[in-house]
Amino acid sequence: MQDLFNYPNICDIAFDWNNEKLKNLIQSFIINLNKSKPHALIPACGTGRFSQYFSEFADIQAFDINVNTIEFAKKHRSRSNINYYVDDMKELNYSQRNDFDFVLILNNSIQYLKSRADFKCFLKNIKNKLSKESVIIIEMGLNWNGENLNKPYSWTAKRGNEEVKIDWTALSFNQGKSLEIVKAEYKDIISNEHISFESEIEQTIWNYETFFKDVADSNMKIEKILSFPNFEDVTDSIKNKESGRFIILLKNINQERER
Ligand SMILES: C[S@@+](CC[C@H](N)C(=O)[O-])C[C@H]1O[C@@H](n2cnc3c(N)ncnc32)[C@H](O)[C@@H]1O
Repeated sequence: MQDLFNYPNICDIAFDWNNEKLKNLIQSFIINLNKSKPHALIPACGTGRFSQYFSEFADIQAFDINVNTIEFAKKHRSRSNINYYVDDMKELNYSQRNDFDFVLILNNSIQYLKSRADFKCFLKNIKNKLSKESVIIIEMGLNWNGENLNKPYSWTAKRGNEEVKIDWTALSFNQGKSLEIVKAEYKDIISNEHISFESEIEQTIWNYETFFKDVADSNMKIEKILSFPNFEDVTDSIKNKESGRFIILLKNINQERER
């Protein structure tokens, strides 16, 4: 069993779903900030797809815990106004600013925080990096209750001549964690060999109650919640909703830095 994140070439293609609508929405949030070139922090940036895209609208600091991934991003998704570096979401030791205008984190990154304690730690650290009026944009799934287990989901991703078939299955769901397996088959462009890849990943599942409580405990407030994929404003009705994916905007309640 291999560690998926040590294979940035596969990650880059495996996570390449159609995200045009999401990008447009985030872009509209950035425009609403009313800053000519805002400063953005992108935690757990992976291979830099979103960092490169949003570098058109913002100066970007983007980090990932995996050095291979950061090297890939520097090589393939480099821009003069993006700074890629290695750091951990739980620690944020190396972020060079404390006045970011926005922070962007997606579901496929935040799920790798392993516990509520880690999530709280992340919020506390992030809060210390924000400027007044800045926002945290989180795209995340909430309340998944383990349905659709063992139902493989497959797709083929293509980049140039490279084609990768990906199979994704959630195997089990237990105590706020899901165990998922990803299989990929592709032809290595250097060795020309057929590679069969398999990786197990454990992801954290979040629910409304704990998410809301952890945000409130961190002295932040939920500004807006939009449903996915239609981006309906469900800020007031979300408590009645079943499992889903959402875009959540958080703001600081007070500007005091946490210690
Ligand atoms: C699936 S990738 C997604 C990246 C990006 N959101 C995208 O869609 O392109 C998730 C990334 O989270 C990173 N990651 C996991 N735990 C992390 C942590 N504690 N701190 C920073 N990065 C982390 C992994 O190394 C991986 O590159």
